[in-house]
Amino acid sequence: MTRKVPMGAAALILAAGEGTRMKSSLPKVAHRILGIPLVRYVVDAAHDAGCDRVVVVTGHGAEVVEELLGDETCVRQERQLGTGHAVMCADAALKGVSGSLVILSGDSPLLRASTIARLVEARETSRAAAVVLTTTLDDPTGYGRIVRDGAGALSAIVEHKDLGPSQLGITEVNTGTYCFDAEVLFEHLDRLGNANAQGEYYLTDMIALFRAEGLLVADIATDDPLETLGVNTRVQLAEAAKVLQRRINREHMLAGVTMTDPDLVWIAPTVSLGRDIVLEPMTMLAGATVIGDHCIIGPDSRITDSTVGVRVVVDSSVVLGSVIGDDASVGPRAYLRPGTVLEPRARAGTSVEIKNSVVGEGSKVPHLSYIGDATIGKGVNVGAGTITCNYDGARKHRTVIGDGAFIGSDTMLVAPVTVGEGAITGAGSAIAKDVPAGALGIERCEQRNVDGWAARKKAGRGTDDQ
Ligand code: UD1
Ligand code: CA
Repeated sequence: MTRKVPMGAAALILAAGEGTRMKSSLPKVAHRILGIPLVRYVVDAAHDAGCDRVVVVTGHGAEVVEELLGDETCVRQERQLGTGHAVMCADAALKGVSGSLVILSGDSPLLRASTIARLVEARETSRAAAVVLTTTLDDPTGYGRIVRDGAGALSAIVEHKDLGPSQLGITEVNTGTYCFDAEVLFEHLDRLGNANAQGEYYLTDMIALFRAEGLLVADIATDDPLETLGVNTRVQLAEAAKVLQRRINREHMLAGVTMTDPDLVWIAPTVSLGRDIVLEPMTMLAGATVIGDHCIIGPDSRITDSTVGVRVVVDSSVVLGSVIGDDASVGPRAYLRPGTVLEPRARAGTSVEIKNSVVGEGSKVPHLSYIGDATIGKGVNVGAGTITCNYDGARKHRTVIGDGAFIGSDTMLVAPVTVGEGAITGAGSAIAKDVPAGALGIERCEQRNVDGWAARKKAGRGTDDQ
């Protein structure tokens, strides 16, 4: 159970920066880990912590970022004049907010909801005007440093570029995560200046400002420095992804999922897994995917936005937007595209592509087939190489196959077409007309055998009497 903040806390997420060091045409916070944009992780953490009002400051690439955020409240910072200026831009949007205001960076996707809750609790118990989340790093390069007074109390945050020679050795850093008293913060914002190395309005200057006014400031440390990793480069993007992968995989393993090599398994936070599942190497599970107990997934498989029943085997396959029933099996090298439903005990076998189709209970499409826009009944066998010709160049048409039908190998089912219950199609037929229940549909040139032809060819004699 995630720890929740006391009622009434608000959160402001700063996500207007360009992220020059990403060397990208995409705004930094729109870069993704496990399919989810960085800023989304931060917004979700704020919601999960129980913040009842969440506002995101967008600016660089605002349209892109706002699109990713859907219904969330966003405010624009047209010119990125610093983190302090970003907060000023949210003044109107946060009107009426009193009590705790959490401020987070949109580029810190690893921050836990429980840490946000701890920060708010610390402020509400201490009644401080601000509480800063700090951590200690072996290499603090680039981070704002925590400066303490003789009594060890937080007295200022000094940005890396503004450090004095005596401060260079400080390894305790500002994580960019704070909880402010909202009213006190907004009362003092216009006192921020930009006389510093970067010519920006630093939110971090608030600390020295509060201290000078005799206001109480406090700090708490994270017990997990990895949690506050900010993503500024693609190297850090990969580092953050690795941390998240390990965190997620660990939870699933502790909950009863076996991973042969957890470093080679990637599971999005949106995925839910049952127990006694085995995930083999090179498996990626993404989107709104749910997998039931006792499944074996992988090696080399990707499942996105799909619901998988119990005791399903998926081997070396791609499954997108599909529903797979209990005891079904998929692969190797199957490609299930959106709208595929495999009913219980159905099989989509080797090198089979299926889209927008239902494969009924116990039915099998074992080898080398394309099934599109089809409804296949129960207990049907679809022979190797069968193809639904569902597209006439302009429109898509449906193929319907009744229960217990037997589709001969290499049948072309030219849709719209129906093969009745228990009907059979002859191997190699192009079936363009409906086959009634129980009938044989066959469309094939009659075979002719030419006696002695092979020997004549070998001897170089004429073979034109064929
Ligand atoms: C900031 C802190 C630094 C801290 C570090 C932790 C300041 C001045 N410095 O530095 O003390 O150690 O985070 O990661 O706050 N942003 C805006 N508008 C702006 C500028 C920034 O929305 O005008 C957003 C960015 O998109 C980003 C966040 O604020 O999500 C932090 O900005 P960034 O430029 O990355 O600050 P740092 O230099 O990392
Ligand atoms: Ca940063």
